[in-house]
Amino acid sequence: MKSFVVFAVCLAVVLAADKEEDRPKTFKRLIPADVLRDFPGMCFASTRCATVEPGKTWELHPFCGRSTCVVSEDKPPRLLELVEDCGPLPLANPKCKLDEEKTNKTAAFPDCCPIFACEDGAKLEYPEIPTVAPVPEGAEATTAKA
Ligand SMILES: *[C@@H]1O[C@H](CO)[C@@H](O)[C@H](O)[C@H]1NC(C)=O
Repeated sequence: MKSFVVFAVCLAVVLAADKEEDRPKTFKRLIPADVLRDFPGMCFASTRCATVEPGKTWELHPFCGRSTCVVSEDKPPRLLELVEDCGPLPLANPKCKLDEEKTNKTAAFPDCCPIFACEDGAKLEYPEIPTVAPVPEGAEATTAKA
């Protein structure tokens, strides 16, 4: 029991020292890819108005994120878009605000993700994220981790 308390205290210290890292920096989800009738086998990147080969990645400007064209492992294979973004915004907290100096919205993903600064003792809370993302069967299951 005593060692558990020591462990818990250490963990709390680590979490406090590591404020910005106690949450994954990026979130991933798989969605069916947009495919143009005339370009089967390619993902359509609507933010770039271009087709993208499987395995290739593109930035989602003006949004902060990145997508990869993925072929699923099921039969017949389907084209999927692996979307990576900064995840949900934290719940509003008057003691925390967007760090305008550190946040660089024009940087490439994931450096464009918002960085928040809190007053001492304040901590941001994030909305619950469904742990089971709608990952199509046969696709990489590892992406469902939030
Ligand atoms: C933001 O990121 C872009 C792209 O990496 C860079 O060119 C620019 O200098 C950065 N701006 C600031 C204020 O750091």
